[in-house]
This record gives sequence, structure tokens and C-alpha cells, in this order.
Amino acid sequence: MNRPALRILRLGRVGSTQDEARVWLARGCGSGTAIVAEEQTRGRGRRGRRWESAAGLGIWMTYLHRSGRPARDWPAVTSVGALSLCLALEAIGLRPAAKWPNDILLSGRKVAGVLADLEDGVVLLGIGINLFHQEADFPVSLRARSTSIALEKHRSRSDLPFDRESFLIELLDRMRDRLEQFEADGPKEIVEEIWQRTSLRDQRITVLLPSGVCHRGNPVGLGETGALCLQTEEGKVTIPSGTVIVEEDA
Ligand code: BTN
Repeated sequence: MNRPALRILRLGRVGSTQDEARVWLARGCGSGTAIVAEEQTRGRGRRGRRWESAAGLGIWMTYLHRSGRPARDWPAVTSVGALSLCLALEAIGLRPAAKWPNDILLSGRKVAGVLADLEDGVVLLGIGINLFHQEADFPVSLRARSTSIALEKHRSRSDLPFDRESFLIELLDRMRDRLEQFEADGPKEIVEEIWQRTSLRDQRITVLLPSGVCHRGNPVGLGETGALCLQTEEGKVTIPSGTVIVEEDA
């Protein structure tokens, strides 16, 4: 599959770039389009949770990708987003960890999240990254669990240059490289690379499934398309999607 031309649509205040993506897709925008908003008033995360997306503080973006892979591979596009975020953060001297299924952490706190939706056979790869937040910019309920690139650069005394535009382009470049790899070779290596960065190694966790069922055990790896493999007392289970509670967090 040829790499589609990159098109960046820059918008001001929107509800959610995921919704904008559907509108622009219906207007004929295709694979390779990135919809980037200055602010979202109804930004959302997994399971319909609210995603704080204040004006000028972060990158709030949806990238349109039409895949030629079999549909069973599409869930791995979330891992492509997560890996690209990790690589872009590493390029500015930070050490991210990936908390399955879609959180990117710095110093154990969430700095970015990935949300993949599907519309008309096109994956809408939503990426939210906290860039310039100070602690007071986060709602009190999220403060202890959230961070931003600015806070982490300050904490690690990093003086590598950083600006929003360069970071966005770096991220898009890496994402498009990895999507090309995904299309050519499938998700296996991408999923392996994201597992190398997992925050869940050697942790005892509970995973809450969308059905309400819970599994408790130790994560032992990821399946080919990014499902979590958990060793429980009853045996090994493979979990395509769920919410992880690390035991010390509980
Ligand atoms: C999560 O961590 O639960 C996923 C967060 C994804 C947030 C991004 S911001 C851009 C895009 N538009 C949205 O409404 N959500 C995603």
C-alpha cells in the first residue's frame, strides 16, 4: 500500500476531533488526513470518559487511516498510536511507559491516551497529549494521576528543545512510518515493541472487562493484535479490551 499524502486540517474549538473526523470523511477527506484542534469541548476517552482538552495546552488530534489489512488486525492500530507516541517522547529525551491498552505514562502518570474508532472501514486514530499543563490545569480528581510534557521536562531537568509544531510533525512522521510497517508486515513487531515498554511487567493486576467480568493475575505478554495475555490462577486468558487496575492502585 502506498503512503497517502499527509494533509493536516487545523481547527479551532470543536466538540471532539473524532466527530470532526466523521464529518470530514463524509466530505471526502481520506486516509492520511490529520484533524488537529486547538480545543475540544467534548473530548472523550475510552468507555465514554471525558478527556480534558483545554485550549492551547495539548495536541488533540484524529488521524484517518484506511487499512488494507484483514479486519482482525485492525485493533492493533491502537498499538501503532501508542508506539508512535512513545518513540516521539523518547526523541525528546523522556522515558515513557505504555499502560495497556491505551495509556502513555511518564513517571507513572498519564501524559497521553489513544482512542481508535471505526467509520466506514476507516480507522479514526485519536491521540490526546498533555503538553503544557501545570498541575493546577488538571481537575483535582485527576491531578495525582496526570502529567504533561512540560512538567516532566522540568522534573527531569531536560533542556532538549520542544515546541508543539515540531512534536506534532515528529509524531505524525513516526505514526505514518509505523502504519506503513503495519500494512506491509502486520502488527506482530509493533505489538512486541509496545510490550517492551509496558508499565505492567511484574505487576499483579485486575482487569475489568466491558461485560463486567473481572480477571486477576499477572500480565505475561500481548497477543498478535495487542490483546493482553494474563496468567490467572485458573490458567491463561487473552483479553482484547478492558480496564486495568494495578493492585497497589486499588
Ligand atoms: C483515553 O486515554 O481514554 C483516550 C484519550 C483520547 C483523547 C483524544 S484527544 C483527540 C481525540 N478526540 C477525542 O475526543 N478523543 C481523542
